[in-house]
Amino acid sequence: MKYTRELEIVKKAAIEASKVITEYAERTSFTVELKGKNDLITDADVASENKIIKIITEAFPEDAILAEESSQKTELPQGRVWIIDPIDGTTNFAHGFPAYCVSIALWEQKSPKVALVLEVARQELFTAVEGEGAYLNGTSIHVSENKDPSASLIGTGFPYRDLHLVDDYLKLFKRLMEKTHGVRRPGTAAWDLCNVACGRFEGFYEYGLSAWDVAAGSLIIKEAGGIVTDWKDESDWLFGKRIIAGNRAVHSFLKNEISECFNEADVKNEKISE
Ligand code: IPD
Repeated sequence: MKYTRELEIVKKAAIEASKVITEYAERTSFTVELKGKNDLITDADVASENKIIKIITEAFPEDAILAEESSQKTELPQGRVWIIDPIDGTTNFAHGFPAYCVSIALWEQKSPKVALVLEVARQELFTAVEGEGAYLNGTSIHVSENKDPSASLIGTGFPYRDLHLVDDYLKLFKRLMEKTHGVRRPGTAAWDLCNVACGRFEGFYEYGLSAWDVAAGSLIIKEAGGIVTDWKDESDWLFGKRIIAGNRAVHSFLKNEISECFNEADVKNEKISE
């Protein structure tokens, strides 16, 4: 098995971070600040990130770090880089809504190699290593085999910072309400992607996500037999802020529905407003 030590270290880092997050959640006395419009940070995010970075850099001092709260980057270095979201779902966490996770991925030569998402409240540990399948709490997982969009459950995230696409989102939302079993918005994209990987959702789409939200969940989906692309059906989803994921049939359905509802420039990522 490849990346055995990396997987061992990343599990240790996530479990320690999850303990830190749970301590803050139980105290309910954490601070909440705004980084930007509707963009929350708590001291639990910072404490979780510090814990993860300490464990990873002690084990792999040469590796680069791209982390949501301390070391954001807009492109990947050539070598090894750990992409870290210390709490994905900070808004949920800040409101005591129990759906938030730790997301950590190791990318090497611009390709994902190791991925972990730990949903804290349920202690659901999703892991994947390139070429070796995806697992939930040690059991192999696979994307849904349901190819019928009309019998599918779709995950998404709603825009909350960049609101210029809200009307198009609502158009799409209406079509999906009419054409599927329903749409869910758990509020933690990394875990949403894992819900595709283990077959709870047939598909997922969102606009405005960052690299740390999608770096781990996407490998977990691919290793579970699913497809991940940007809205153009290409591979610019890590920094491109647009993602579609799912089993092959529902991925293709979502791609078509998105192209019916958003104008071409938005699908093609020709303008991104923050
Ligand atoms: C957020 C969550 C949310 C998604 C947002 C993300 P954060 O991540 O993944 O589901 O809709 O776009 O920013 O800020 O809690 O790490």
